[in-house]
Amino acid sequence: MKRTMVVLAHPDMEKSVVNKKWIEELQKHNDKIIIHDLHKEYPDCIFDIDREHNLLENVENIILQFPLYWYSSPPILKKWLDDVLSYGWAYGDDETADYKMKGKKIGLAVTVGAPEENYMKNGSVGFSMDEVLIPFKATIKYIGGIELPSFIFYDAVPETGDEKISESAKKYSDYVLNL
Ligand SMILES: Cc1cc2nc3c(=O)[nH]c(=O)nc-3n(C[C@H](O)[C@H](O)[C@H](O)COP(=O)(O)O)c2cc1C
Repeated sequence: MKRTMVVLAHPDMEKSVVNKKWIEELQKHNDKIIIHDLHKEYPDCIFDIDREHNLLENVENIILQFPLYWYSSPPILKKWLDDVLSYGWAYGDDETADYKMKGKKIGLAVTVGAPEENYMKNGSVGFSMDEVLIPFKATIKYIGGIELPSFIFYDAVPETGDEKISESAKKYSDYVLNL
């Protein structure tokens, strides 16, 4: 059984610079990692919920990988969370029930166009990345997941250059392989 699934939510991987590099690096380890590209698998955004449940139930670690769009994820990830984390499966009223995401390790891997200082105190955004990611962190907590440290790459723009982007891809695959 593969222990880790990376759920990729990027609407335009053809034009991607950073997420594409990250996925190319992860693909070298596809004996250990499941790469689940939501747009590729579900171009119409209609998910096969039983299939998604089955995939999630069979891994220990889940990474949600996405580019930051308007201080959130691309919409397909929100819809995936809305549809897949269903009542009675991911959460419910029975405190003793063994809901299926309980105890799963879940992390966020996010590419961010702006530089890190924008997300510091007194930075132009005015909120830290930890604050920006609160809805995802709250979701992980609510379903009983164990939140992993986030993997964030700032300056995710082509001008950052191939070398730094390739370096981030190596660090990212180390992060995913060593969960
Ligand atoms: C619709 C849209 C919204 C974006 N919103 C933000 C944002 O809120 N904050 C930010 O720092 N970068 C933002 N960006 C920049 C993206 O985060 C950046 O282009 C992406 O992470 C680069 O990854 P990629 O090369 O894999 O596409 C936005 C980009 C797009 C297209």
